[in-house]
Amino acid sequence: MIRKKVPSVTFRTRVRDESIEGPNPFRWEDKTSDDYFKGKRVVLFSLPGAFTPTCSTYQLPDFEKLYEEFQAEGINEIYCISVNDAFVMNAWGKAQGLKNVKLIPDGSGEFTRKMGMLVAKDNLGFGMRSWRYAAVINDGVVEQWFEEEGFSDNCDSDPYGVSSPQNILENLKAGEAVAA
Ligand code: BEZ
Repeated sequence: MIRKKVPSVTFRTRVRDESIEGPNPFRWEDKTSDDYFKGKRVVLFSLPGAFTPTCSTYQLPDFEKLYEEFQAEGINEIYCISVNDAFVMNAWGKAQGLKNVKLIPDGSGEFTRKMGMLVAKDNLGFGMRSWRYAAVINDGVVEQWFEEEGFSDNCDSDPYGVSSPQNILENLKAGEAVAA
């Protein structure tokens, strides 16, 4: 996976637009892979679903808290992607009070499929979702890869360890020490 270029995909996001009156002042805004990845060094983490327990209790809030430490390691953005639509991702971001981590809705699973990370989660009634992984991506090219063990359809567990923010930070810091 190292040195793989991220797939070119268009994401259908919903953004707030104050010029729209009424109770739902949001409009569609297409964002491309280039919009998110070109000319930036980012951490992308991908998880099985918005609002799920491990993601909501540990992974997303911990990335949010550690944002400045990632910045100190030369990371410009932290993105969380999930095979969920923009309405769900926005509601999750609001519930989490996010200020730092940006959410990417991969509702149709196209990005996740082209990354080779789409798995069936029919055992949970989820349909097709992302296997849990994270990556450091520099100008659209994968520089470091953190994939949870046991990639499989209908996995009866949800491994979480290598894609934690703590582990990725440790690797970034160790890389810096080696380079120094
Ligand atoms: C969790 O994040 O805990 C979780 C993810 C997918 C399915 C069930 C739980």
